[in-house]
Amino acid sequence: MQKPVPYSKAFAARPPREVVIGIAKDMQGKYNPITLGMFAHVANEPPVLAVSIAKEQYSLGAFRLTKEFVIALPSESQVEETMLYGTKSGRDCDKLALAGAKTMPATKIDCVLLVDAAANYECRRIAETAVGDHVVLFGEVLAAHIADPAVRRLYILGPGYRMGPLPG
Ligand SMILES: Cc1cc2nc3c(=O)[nH]c(=O)nc-3n(C[C@H](O)[C@H](O)[C@H](O)COP(=O)(O)O)c2cc1C
Repeated sequence: MQKPVPYSKAFAARPPREVVIGIAKDMQGKYNPITLGMFAHVANEPPVLAVSIAKEQYSLGAFRLTKEFVIALPSESQVEETMLYGTKSGRDCDKLALAGAKTMPATKIDCVLLVDAAANYECRRIAETAVGDHVVLFGEVLAAHIADPAVRRLYILGPGYRMGPLPG
């Protein structure tokens, strides 16, 4: 059986869901991370990832300016960092410095990778489309990196952006 509910209620029933950190060089010349729950792998050949950024976000300007960005999959050790990137704005602070994040240079684009992440993807923006109050950006993956040894990924597990690894 199914019963009709407002979309917000059906959406709230979706966790666990993915969370990623998008990083782009901003208008001040610093690398600015933003936490994003709206994320998808949308093509295989070439590999393309999509993220959706609200129109009012500071980060949207950075993603548009440089046309290249990193998508990092945070690990279970990055709960606080991921929350910081999703609650503070690059408009008025350097989030990577504030978090004391360990970074290393990307190999194909002007950006940084998160050393503690489960994976990092270097992307070149190939398209964007406005959808409602968000803009969806499509990035072709130019290079990919994974943690060695492997680490567990972080997910959104429940209301209030409660995050952690998948149980089990
Ligand atoms: C778990 C989580 C998921 C989020 N998902 C998105 C998202 O998909 N799109 C978006 O525009 N903002 C999302 N946000 C909000 C932004 O990360 C937040 O507004 C951030 O402070 C914007 O940073 P900026 O001002 O440096 O661009 C999310 C926040 C959290 C904590």
